[in-house]
Order: sequence, then C-alpha cells, then structure tokens
Amino acid sequence: MIDRYGRVIDYLRISLTDKCNLRCVYCMPAEKRFRPGYVNDVMKPEDFKFLIKGFADNGIKKIRFTGGEPLLYPQLPEIIKFTRECGVKDIAITTNGIGLVDKIKTLKECGLTAVNISMDSLKQYKYRAVTRNGNLNEVINAINACSAIGLKVKINCVAIKDFNDNEIVDFIEISRRAYVDVRFIELMPIGEAKQIYQRGYLDIRNVIESLPEIRKVKERQHGSIADYYVLPGSKGRVGVITPLSCSFCDRCNRVRITADGMLKLCLHSKNEIDLKPLLHKQYLFNESIKEYIWVKPRRHNLVKRKSSDSSRDMYQIGG
Ligand code: GTP
Ligand code: 5AD
Ligand code: SF4
Repeated sequence: MIDRYGRVIDYLRISLTDKCNLRCVYCMPAEKRFRPGYVNDVMKPEDFKFLIKGFADNGIKKIRFTGGEPLLYPQLPEIIKFTRECGVKDIAITTNGIGLVDKIKTLKECGLTAVNISMDSLKQYKYRAVTRNGNLNEVINAINACSAIGLKVKINCVAIKDFNDNEIVDFIEISRRAYVDVRFIELMPIGEAKQIYQRGYLDIRNVIESLPEIRKVKERQHGSIADYYVLPGSKGRVGVITPLSCSFCDRCNRVRITADGMLKLCLHSKNEIDLKPLLHKQYLFNESIKEYIWVKPRRHNLVKRKSSDSSRDMYQIGG
C-alpha cells in the first residue's frame, strides 16, 4: 500500500483495548471519561483477526499491539499467534510491563518478537506519582524477564521538564550495562499532556548530544522514528524520538487501528475512517483499504498549533 506522497505503508499499530491498569498523568484523565458515542469492546477478537489478515495480505510487514494496556486484552496470545500465521514477521507490543513477567514466555512462544516498555522514572516515589500508583519493581522485573528469554527490549521514557530531567544519566546507565535500548521521547501536546507541555519543553536531543563521547549511529532502521546514539563500551543504545523538534513524518510508514475499529492515518489527525462496515467482507476490504491509505496526511501540525488535532487521549490511540 502506498499513499499519495509515495510513502509505502507496511507498519500497523493496533490498539486492542483502551483499558489500562495505570493512569499516567500525561495520558489518562484522573477520572474515567468516555468519548461521545463510544461503545466499549465493540471489536471482537475475530474482528481484529479479520483486519490483521486483510492488512497482512495488503503488504503490512510489522504489527505492534498497543492499548491502553495490551496485556489486559485476554486474547492477546491467540491474536499474536494468528498474526504470525498470517506471515507477519515483526510482532511487537508497547506495554507498561505490569503483569508481563507471568505472560512473557507464552507471548514469545506465540510469536512475539519485540517489547517496548514504558518507564518514566527510576525512583519509586516518582514512578508512583506519574503512573498514579504503579509499582516500579514490577516493571524492572519485566525488563529483566524479557532480556532473559532473548526478547529485544526498548525502554520508553517520556522526557518531562522538572520531572525526570535529572535522571537521564541513570537511564543511560541501563543501556550501558544491558542489551537494552533506552529511548527518550519528547512529550507531545495531546490530550492530558497539553497542560504538562505548557509548563515547559525539554530539548532532549540537545541534552543527549551534549554528553561527552556520545556518537550518533548513522544507519537508520527501516521505519524507525528514533535516532540512536552509542557510548563507548555500551551494550545497548540510547534513542531519541523527537516529533516536535525534528519531525519524521516524511518517512512515516505506519497507520493505526483503534480499539473501537477506527482507522487513524496519522497519530495527530482528527479524521478517522470506520473499518467496521468492512468487517468480514474480504472483497470490500481489499477494494477500499488502498483508497483509504492513499489519503494519509502529509504530516502533523504539532509545532505550528502547539496541540494535536486528534480528539482522542493517548490511551485511546496507543501512541
Ligand atoms: P518501534 O517499532 O520499536 O520503532 O516502536 P515505536 O517507537 O514506533 O513505538 P512505541 O509504541 O514504542 O512508541 C514510542 C513513542 O513514539 C511513543 O511516544 C509514541 O507515541 C510515539 N510514536 C509512535 N508512532 C508515532 C508516529 O507515527 N508519530 C508520532 N509523532 N509519534 C509516534
Ligand atoms: N507524548 C509522548 N509519548 C507519550 N506516550 C503517551 N503519551 C505521550 C505523550 N503525550 C507514550 C507512553 C508509551 C507510548 C505508547 O507512548 O509513555 O511509551
Ligand atoms: Fe496506561 Fe500507557 Fe497511558 Fe500510562 S501511558 S496510562 S501505561 S496507556
């Protein structure tokens, strides 16, 4: 599948559920809030499977399952297994890591190939504050459990001014000692994060590039939105994801499906296309999907407007 700007779309992100067992302050409101007209759990596992097969048949090579929290979706193992049976080689999840230790072996056996784990502080009291009561030890155990069974792990740390800017060196130390990539992400002004963003912006790329002896990795992996750096003697890499200071939209290869079956062509666009009318109608799906992909927006408007156009909070998209 290709869009009107010539970008090949081969990476699909599926938000299986908008439920989460944490409530990170930049992602979820303190109180539960539903979108107008939202029907919970409208998509059945068979519906997701239909879409996975349909997208795989149309050239999708990598699928990432997100949430909310994808581990809360009971059929995650069978969905991963099905995805592998559809011929998709790259199968990943983005998770907060809570409860992962008990599930990781099964998920790997089903076909999971990579795990991105969110962790915004290495101090228990701060982690509790940002996640509204999460347990940091569970996340650290999850990272170790993934590494122990040979799964590629990337740690996602959203860089927040006056919150974790004094922990950057400690995070980097993890990548120095273990075969784990640590990625710092610019906070994007979307949903709950808009207010935090207004309090100040942290130029994380500048912080990383100012570190003594740091060297940028020249080659970029296909479809990667992160730029990577290495320190001498490090086992893992340090990454930065900077949608604000340096957009990667020109080489974007991804689209998204939300837990309520909407196709989102860009993380930050307002427009969504309902895929539910195409469910279990293979011919109609194949006819329609290429046209839908064709109109993927050129880029986001975050920098100009200082706010995402998306009407969803992050937990309803999955990043
Ligand atoms: P890889 O497949 O390992 O490269 O993962 P990823 O970095 O694409 O996915 P992940 O779910 O770990 O997301 C890391 C950060 O990148 C999160 O903050 C996401 O919100 C953000 N992100 C992912 N895709 C996009 C995108 O298309 N545009 C923008 N602006 N941000 C994105
Ligand atoms: N800006 C940047 N990253 C975000 N995430 C959630 N909200 C934001 C935001 N406003 C991250 C989570 C997780 C991934 C899915 O997206 O921390 O790692
Ligand atoms: Fe849950 Fe992830 Fe949102 Fe935190 S960032 S509340 S872990 S979906």
